[in-house]
Amino acid sequence: MNTHIVKVDKCVDNDESYQQTVDCLRNGGLVAFPTETVYGLGALATDPDATKKVFEAKGRPSDNPLIVHIGTKEEVSLYADPIPASASELMDAFWPGPLTLIFHEKPGVIAKSVTVGKGTVGLRMPDHPVALRLLRLLGGPLAAPSANRSGKPSPTKASHVAQDMDGRIPFILDGGATGVGVESTVIDMTSTPPAILRPGGITAEMIEAVIGPVRSETSAAESEAPRAPGMKYKHYSPNAPVWLIEPNGETIDNAVKSFSADSHKVAVIGPDELTTDVPDWYFATGKRADLSQLASNLYDALRACDGTAADIILAVEAPLEGMGIAVMNRLNKAADGKRYSVDKFQ
Ligand code: TXA
Ligand code: MG
Repeated sequence: MNTHIVKVDKCVDNDESYQQTVDCLRNGGLVAFPTETVYGLGALATDPDATKKVFEAKGRPSDNPLIVHIGTKEEVSLYADPIPASASELMDAFWPGPLTLIFHEKPGVIAKSVTVGKGTVGLRMPDHPVALRLLRLLGGPLAAPSANRSGKPSPTKASHVAQDMDGRIPFILDGGATGVGVESTVIDMTSTPPAILRPGGITAEMIEAVIGPVRSETSAAESEAPRAPGMKYKHYSPNAPVWLIEPNGETIDNAVKSFSADSHKVAVIGPDELTTDVPDWYFATGKRADLSQLASNLYDALRACDGTAADIILAVEAPLEGMGIAVMNRLNKAADGKRYSVDKFQ
């Protein structure tokens, strides 16, 4: 299969470019498209055959449900029932935007492979002009996980999608780099109090300011039966193993020296301030105090490591507050628990 990359300017009305992708979706095909968080791999959510292709193209385990994207708030009532008052408040405050709400589903509308028969459906209205135009021209719901091969960092540029999906999907809508850079926050509105299943673009503090206290169930270890199955799989990993490291220049120098002494080649992902000459590659992701920047550049940096000869990646820890919580959630999964400390290596 040839993969066509269709460039669409965010600010220009270019319906013709969209039409071929809308036709593709209506005929059961897949289209990758930009959202404000990461690129999604879309299929018509009501078409069982189309949504199965998403799992094949990604190599995604079939027990991991897909987020359903909609173009208007009004569509929620087509797919979800009931709609709790607190959910309406969150939609009013944060939609369109990087927040996915889990509802009880209205049976028989969304394909079973999307909800994986859990009786719930995750809905989100993305805040991106290209995604919204595509959804409105399509006039239907788009099931769309991140447009990466399963286990790889999510794509924040069309070129990242092409790296993973070239030859596997017919269309990539190229709307430039995404903004937020990490996936939407997922919150389960079917439990009391609501539970954050994945930290993301909307922080717990922002949510609590609107609806009061929420719980956090953001790692598989925190709940016996993980309710967002995505939590239990390997995630966000470049080719080389990732080690977390504290934000301290001396510790980084130490780590680079001890890994190099073992004939390793080291890449470092960290804030602008800690750039040193020591590692072979330093991918700076922004000022340490600017947590949104660290999030926005994270996946591009993880993917950039694959373009080097590095066989060890050190990722500098972000502060555990605001967007830093989402960054650390992804880095912890990428590192699979590995953290460099001087003691262990002496
Ligand atoms: O920002 C995003 O959310 C991106 C863009 C493309 O919108 N999408 C995304 O989708 O990250 P995906 O499929 O990679 O992540 C979906 C997460 C998974 O952890 C999945 O387990 C959870 O949401 N999820 C989806 N539907 C669910 C449901 N009905 N119940 C529980 N968890 C659900
Ligand atoms: Mg994903």
